[in-house]
Order: sequence, then C-alpha cells, then structure tokens
Amino acid sequence: MAAAPTLILGLETSCDETAAAVVRRDADGTGTILSNVVLSQVKDHAPYGGVVPEVAARAHIRHISVLVGTALAESGVETNALSAVAATAGPGLVGGLLVGHTFGKGFALARDLPFLAINHLEGHALTPRLLGPCPFPYLLLLISGGHTQFQLVRGVGDYQRLGTTIDDALGEAFDKTAKLLGLGYPGGPQVEALARLGNGQRFDLPRPLKGRPDCNFSFSGLKTAVREIVQAQTVLDDDTRADICASFERAVVETVADRTRRAMALFREACPDSETPAFVVAGGVAANAQLRTMFAEACATHGFRLAVPPFDLCTDNAAMIAWAGAERFVLGIRDGLDNAARARWPLDSVSAPLFGHGRLGAKA
Ligand code: KG4
Ligand code: ZN
Repeated sequence: MAAAPTLILGLETSCDETAAAVVRRDADGTGTILSNVVLSQVKDHAPYGGVVPEVAARAHIRHISVLVGTALAESGVETNALSAVAATAGPGLVGGLLVGHTFGKGFALARDLPFLAINHLEGHALTPRLLGPCPFPYLLLLISGGHTQFQLVRGVGDYQRLGTTIDDALGEAFDKTAKLLGLGYPGGPQVEALARLGNGQRFDLPRPLKGRPDCNFSFSGLKTAVREIVQAQTVLDDDTRADICASFERAVVETVADRTRRAMALFREACPDSETPAFVVAGGVAANAQLRTMFAEACATHGFRLAVPPFDLCTDNAAMIAWAGAERFVLGIRDGLDNAARARWPLDSVSAPLFGHGRLGAKA
C-alpha cells in the first residue's frame, strides 16, 4: 500500500503579508500546492514609505482567521485529514510573528494536530524542492527587503552561511534609491522600470566590497553615493532620474556578480564532489531582470543550474512555510506548544553574527 501523503497547513505573518496555504508532500518527495492565499498589506504601509510593525500586527489579527478558512476551503482538505500545522516562528517583526504562531498553536491544540515552528528563511531556502527535484547540497542567495545572504544548504535544518550584508539589504538599497528620487514604495520595480530608459554609464557609483575574497555585501556606501548625486543636481528631471536608476542598477549587478562568483568558488571548495549543484535565488529582488540575466551567465560559466522560483513563490507566502513543515514532519521533527516566536533567528547558528544576519525586526 502506498504511504499516505503529508498534508500541512502553513501560516506566514512575519512581515507585511498575511498568508495561509495547504501543501501536500507525497512519499516520493513530490510537492503540490493545494491552496496558497496571500493578503499583501502594501497599501496600508505605502503612505509611510516602509512597513510599520504595529499596523502590520493589527492587520494580521484582522485577516488570519478568514485566510485560514479560505486556504482550507480552496484546498479541499478536511481539517481532520491534516498531518500538522506549520507557522513561521521567526525571524521577523515580533508583533506579526505572534499572530500566526499563536493562531497555529491554538489551531493545532484544538484539533489535536502536531505543531511545527518554521524559520522563515528555511521556507525560502527549501522552496525549489517543492517545485521539483533539487538535491542537497545547493547554493542559496536570498535577496529581499530585509536579507541579503548566501547559504550553503546541506539539508533540512543544515545551513552554512557563506556571506551576508554587513549593513543594508539589497531590497532596502532599491527602496532607499526610489525614495531619494521621489518614487513610490516598494521601490525595486520602479527603479528597474526607470533604469530601462536611462544611461547606466552617466554616473560613476561604487562597487562595494568588489574583489574581496569573502562573499559579503555592503550597500550603505552605494546609497550614500546616490544621495550625493541627487543632492548635487540643480534640476532632477526625468532623464537624470532614469540615468541615476540605470547607473545604480549597473553598480548593483556588477557587485552582485562579483560576490556570486566568490560564493560559487567557496561552495566548490566546501562541496568538491557536487557536479551541477543548483544556484537558488529567492526574495523579491530576484524579480529583477538584469540580475536574472547575470545569474544565468554566472551559472553557465561556473557549472551551476539556476533555480529561481516564480515571483509569487520568491516573495513571502505560506506555501513555503507549509513545505518546510512537510520536510521537517517527514523527518519526525515536532515542536511543543511552549515554542516561542523570535524576532532574530539566523539559519546558520554556528557562523559569527554580522549586522545584517537574521537581524532584529528585519524583513526576510
Ligand atoms: O521578498 P520581498 O517581497 O519581501 C521581503 O522583503 O520579505 O522583497 C521585497 C523587496 C523590496 O525591497 C522591493 O523593492 C524588492 O524586493 N523588489 C525588487 C524588484 N521587485 C521587488 N528589487 C529590484 N528589482 C525588482 N524588480
Ligand atoms: Zn521573506
């Protein structure tokens, strides 16, 4: 008789998306998303130019219950057929985390289901395995509004941080550039659209940490350089705005290309027997077309297989949390109802912390 599939209800409330999903994992490791409901709060936060933790937590409380009902109804899975409930327990904004995490524990307790506390970053890290075969080990680059890090993914719960940002996250650098230019929030897509119209050679911006033997990032100097250019303009016309965006994007692509080459070399040193490992890119910034083109070239040159999940699975969602729950569930992992949510929770508990690594209140 075939082994019963694992059916997991996942909840995600670590930042400004309230999300619920039901995912199935068959005994052979195949994943299927049965429902994936995401309610973005972007409109609630746009007037403030960034995420306001208190506003986010209150919105999660308003929506979580309805979203879980919708995710269950759309999946067609009866509550009593679920194997477990998985909720993001960190890292993120603690007010928001508490909502999904407490809801998940209450749901599990009321239905007598096992509970799984999920690291949000592990959700991003394991997503490619939900979409198809992606054997360990592989190289992960997470580029979002709160995180910029390379991880060597050896297995479920087994990560080695290769590099991270020592100051701002890459998405934050896009958002701050957009703000300096008077563009809306989130800024990444708008900077990218304007960059297409501009001349990337016009302004000479720094390539922070380029050439360094590690694969860390730094974006605060780039942001300062953009600010100085903006302040030096007597008139900030549309052409100048587009040229600044194009120059910024070119500096970013060259910097990330250099850091990616280093990360690939460090991965090879650590895993010399891995023939064509995957290079997984996740997080909202992975939507950027220039970066994607560069990643494809780097993979072709260095013998990696590029795996970028579709945009809605690159950004925050609960299917990735349910899937991480399924991967942990089949390994026999369970968490107690005394599990606590935590704002800070690095994936790799061994490497020395750097500022940008699983940092307090950071969006992942
Ligand atoms: O993963 P995500 O949706 O949210 C979290 O940070 O968790 O990432 C959002 C970030 C924002 O900083 C946004 O400006 C950036 O991703 N972003 C982009 C693009 N689309 C979104 N950055 C550059 N180019 C884009 N096309
Ligand atoms: Zn995230």
